[in-house]
Formats: sequence, structure tokens, C-alpha cells
Amino acid sequence: MATPLNELDPREREALEADVRKRYEELKAKNLQLDLTRGKPSSEQLDFSQDLLALPGKDTYITAGGVDVRNYGGSDGIAEIRELWAEVLGINPDNVIAGDASSLNIMFDLISFAYAFGTNDSPRPWSREETVKWLCPVPGYDRHFAITEQFGFELVPVPMGENGPDMGSVEKLVLDPQVKGIWCVPIYANPTGAVYSRETAERLAAMETGAPDFRVIWDNAYAVHTFTDEFPENPDVLAMAAEAGNPNRFWYMSSTSKITHAGSGVSFFASSKDNLDWYRGIAGIRGIGPNKENQLAHVELLGDAEGVRALMRKHAGSLRPKFDAALRIMEDRLGGLGVASWTEPQGGYFISLDVVPGTATRVWKLAKEAGINLTKAGSAFPHGTDPENRNIRLAPSMPPIEQVEEAMDGVATCVLLAALER
Ligand SMILES: Cc1ncc(COP(=O)(O)O)c(C=O)c1O
Repeated sequence: MATPLNELDPREREALEADVRKRYEELKAKNLQLDLTRGKPSSEQLDFSQDLLALPGKDTYITAGGVDVRNYGGSDGIAEIRELWAEVLGINPDNVIAGDASSLNIMFDLISFAYAFGTNDSPRPWSREETVKWLCPVPGYDRHFAITEQFGFELVPVPMGENGPDMGSVEKLVLDPQVKGIWCVPIYANPTGAVYSRETAERLAAMETGAPDFRVIWDNAYAVHTFTDEFPENPDVLAMAAEAGNPNRFWYMSSTSKITHAGSGVSFFASSKDNLDWYRGIAGIRGIGPNKENQLAHVELLGDAEGVRALMRKHAGSLRPKFDAALRIMEDRLGGLGVASWTEPQGGYFISLDVVPGTATRVWKLAKEAGINLTKAGSAFPHGTDPENRNIRLAPSMPPIEQVEEAMDGVATCVLLAALER
């Protein structure tokens, strides 16, 4: 059993610090160039969908439904991909629109449409509100926070737990009519890996809100991204909200970005009929229809929901060993010392590491100076500021496993050194 650092006597502590400092100098001398910053798929993972580059075949440009994918139009996307994705998510295909490559683009659109014109339930455009407040479960996804920051919203942090955001706080905060929405990543949340419980989903669907146009951005980016043999349950929040009398509450997002090829997949927006009609009314002016060739290519590559799950099992085979290695090294090097805690996700792309409060920036800097690039400390918080300066998001997906191991061993040294300095 390791002795917690704060139980060491001064002499033991000094000896340990000398040892860790030596290790750090050795680390620096290696002139590493390692990167654990962004949750991108590795090239091994991208290879799983290599056939996409030859699809759709040169003679298969008419869909089963008779749509010529080479032409303009079809702004909802082709029926076959909408049906496939509805099956994957367990929702009604009539509520699903298939778009271009990025769900983040649609999220930006939704906020900007609401800002400029108001939603279908808004008394006025959000730009004409004195203030718009937005709930941000923390730690969370930096790009979400950046969108709402861009429009000048006041970002209100809400603590994330194992089953989703602290719903007691959420239910109180949303009574304020200036609070117009909340960011949610319901499955394998970025960065903690938490999976929202059914109860959390039900409470979000049913809660009373001060704003008539309150929206939950339900960004189900990791709906099927398991490392285990089990796939997570994806609750049908659209049906839940309709049953609770709040049919327009959810803007449900998804994409194939980390399933096929990131940045050239298919995005999805699912919502109530009224919400979709509102979106169509503005998106139809923005463009003349999505890339349907790519949608057909995805139908041909994936086949059906079981095809998607088969592909996700390959991803799991590639990702699991990297996550296992990262967790094992943290346990070996930091376990029991009382200097760090970390999440043990069952899927997704991230591990959330909490170090000694006040030292996250120092850990980040020490790592950088040793050639290990980590996502900037604080980036999982609104405006990039972690009030306790303790959280670091680790993304082990992209580098080869040997590099993940080397980087994580280095990170452990930096965490220890920063803790000892303190
Ligand atoms: C929670 C979350 N949503 C959305 C995205 C990006 O999705 P897309 O590629 O569909 O724009 C990411 C990518 O990391 C993500 O982590």
C-alpha cells in the first residue's frame, strides 16, 4: 500500500521529491513529442471505414426511395439514413433530419437562429433579451461552452455527477426565465465518461422552466461508443418530453463523426415536428439540401443498426487497450498517494483527471516542457477557467499505445512533482 503524501514525515517527503525531480529531468531529456490533447480517432480506427472512400459506387446514385443523390434538394436527408439512425438511437424516423458532416455546425445554427429570430416558442429573439443564461455541466465540452460564449450568454456552471448534472441545482436554476437552455452529453459524457441515468433524463424532460422556449441540447455524440460488450441504453427523450407535456424541449444531436470518418460523416438533428418545422424554415434559406451522396455512402457502408454496432466493436478493440493502459499507469504511479483521482469511463473518448487543487496549470506546464501536450488545464470549464484549478482532460485515443503509455507515465511524474512542490 502506498502512503499518502500528506502522511510522510519531512525526511521521507524530501527523499521522494528528490526522486521525482530526477525522474522529471530524465523525462525532459528524452525530448518527447507526445499529444494527448484532442479526442480524435486514430488512423487505425479511420481504416475501419476505408471502404467509404469508394462509396456510393459509381452506378448507385439512386436511393431505394428513388432519390437521385447527385442533385439538389431533399433537405431532410435521404430516408434510408434517417431510418437507419432512428433505429440506432431508438427514436421515430419522422423526427430525424440528416445533415452534412458536423453536428456541431447544427448546434451553432440552432443557437444562432434562436438568437437572430427566436425559437418557435420564443416571445422575442434571444438577441433582444436583456441577458440569456445557459447551464453548463462541469467539467464539460469546451466547444459547447465556446458556442454559447460567442453569443454573449452568461454561462452558469452546474456540477456533473455520475448520473448526469446535479438535477437539484438544475431544477432550481431553470425557474429563472433568463435561463434558456442547458448543454448535455448524455452518454459517455465529455470528459468524465458519465452516463446520464434514466431518472436524470426524465427530470430534464418534465421539469418546470421559467422560459417558455427553454431547450436541452441533448448532444448524443457518443451514443454507441462503448469499450465493453454492452451498448448503453439510449432513452427516447423526445417521447419522454412529449409525454410530460413539453414536446419541444429537446434538440437531439448525433453524428457518425467518431464512427466512420471524423469531419466527413453524417450529422443528425432530431426533435419534435414543430421544432423541425421551425428549423426547416430557416435552414431552407441557408442551403438547398445536404450532401446526399455521403449519406448514401454511409447507408451502404453501415447497412443497419447491427452494422453500426459491429463497427463500434472494432473501435472498442482499438480504444480499450489504450484506456486500460492509461488507467493502469495512473493506478500504479498515483494510486493511494492522495494526489489525484480520475474517472474510469466505459466508453467515449476521455478520462477526466483531478489533481491536487491549485496545481492543474502547473501539471500542464511541466508536461508541456517535457514534450507532452495536454489539453490546457481549465478547458473543460466555461471561459477556460477551472475555479479550483484541478481538472485535466486526457484523450488517449489517437496516439499508438506505446506513446499513450509513455505519455501517461510522464503525466504521473508531473502530477506528483506539482503536488510535492505544493
Ligand atoms: C460532445 C461532442 N459533441 C460534438 C462533437 C463534434 O461532433 P461533429 O463532428 O458531429 O461536429 C464532439 C467532438 O469531439 C463532442 O465531443
